[in-house]
Amino acid sequence: MALILGIESSCDETAAALVTSDGRVLAHRLAGQEEAHRPFGGVVPELAARAHVEMATPLVEAALADAGVTLSQVDAIAATAGPGLIGGVMVGLMTGKALAHAAGKPLIAVNHLEGHALSPRLADRSLAFPYLLLLVSGGHCQLLLVRGVGDYRRLATTIDDAAGEAFDKTAKLLGLGFPGGPAVEAAARLGDAKAVPLPRPLLGSAEPHFSFAGLKSAVLRARDAGIYKPEDVAASFQQAVVDCLIDRTKRAIEIADGATALVVAGGVAANQAGRGALGGLAERSGLAFAAPPLWLCTDNGAMIAWAGAERFAAGLFDDMDVPARARWPLDPTAEKARGAGVKA
Ligand code: KG4
Ligand code: ZN
Repeated sequence: MALILGIESSCDETAAALVTSDGRVLAHRLAGQEEAHRPFGGVVPELAARAHVEMATPLVEAALADAGVTLSQVDAIAATAGPGLIGGVMVGLMTGKALAHAAGKPLIAVNHLEGHALSPRLADRSLAFPYLLLLVSGGHCQLLLVRGVGDYRRLATTIDDAAGEAFDKTAKLLGLGFPGGPAVEAAARLGDAKAVPLPRPLLGSAEPHFSFAGLKSAVLRARDAGIYKPEDVAASFQQAVVDCLIDRTKRAIEIADGATALVVAGGVAANQAGRGALGGLAERSGLAFAAPPLWLCTDNGAMIAWAGAERFAAGLFDDMDVPARARWPLDPTAEKARGAGVKA
């Protein structure tokens, strides 16, 4: 049995966790930065990097204390090496390298997206490869066939915004606060999802890509029309996103060879309406369904430690000169989606 320390710092959460190779989370600590970013209505990269510098080492120490272990008992140190805000990624990766060097332990550079992609296997140890993964977060919206550790085939991506980004922008437009996803979900519970006519971009198109930019503009127009209640806009927006996720995932199921389970991961996977609808789709499609518990959906250290444990078992280690990367696609062979902007 191996014990892995995981460090996460790619966006606005600093996190450290200790996870065993048989899937026990011995400790997980997390420091959010909502207070620092709230005045700006979004994550400010420089503020995030500075907060990671302040929090990384204390969180590692706290996680070790919670688990009742010392660094010398850890078998490997896993740190997010990208993709994400480069300043923050550098802080977490350098912290991991320094600890690995000081303690004489192997380093495992984890792709943050692989952390999300494998997190359902930490929650459910019986979940086997290959599975179809809907990865929906603040920076990404992808459908991937997960064939094994480090073995991903991207079936679809967004041609503009990520789903979480659309939630965040909608929250900002409606004045619902930051972070946007949970705020929109709370408002949507009080609203009528049929009240505001909103588009479902790319619905029915042959390739299972996503698009959310037009939906965001439609939310802006609905708000400016001045005739709808914010909670009705929120509910209608959330329903439109869920409809898109379901239609696109349904298309991906048709082309995902060999998948026996549909899995959802990433921050937007915390959305109850989305989870319910995807569970229903899996059932209708004869697939098992897995969605990690909410704390494991949004960014955390345990998913990085767990991806580290999976890589440790596969003998996948990294050298000290492994770089921090702002962009790092899980499937490097995937072509850009037609009409895609700058997103990887
Ligand atoms: O995975 P994550 O914590 O960070 C990234 O890697 O991006 O995802 C954060 C995203 C944010 O856009 C946030 O608004 C969204 O996930 N999110 C939600 C919910 N909770 C978080 N979106 C919809 N409903 C939620 N309950
Ligand atoms: Zn994430």
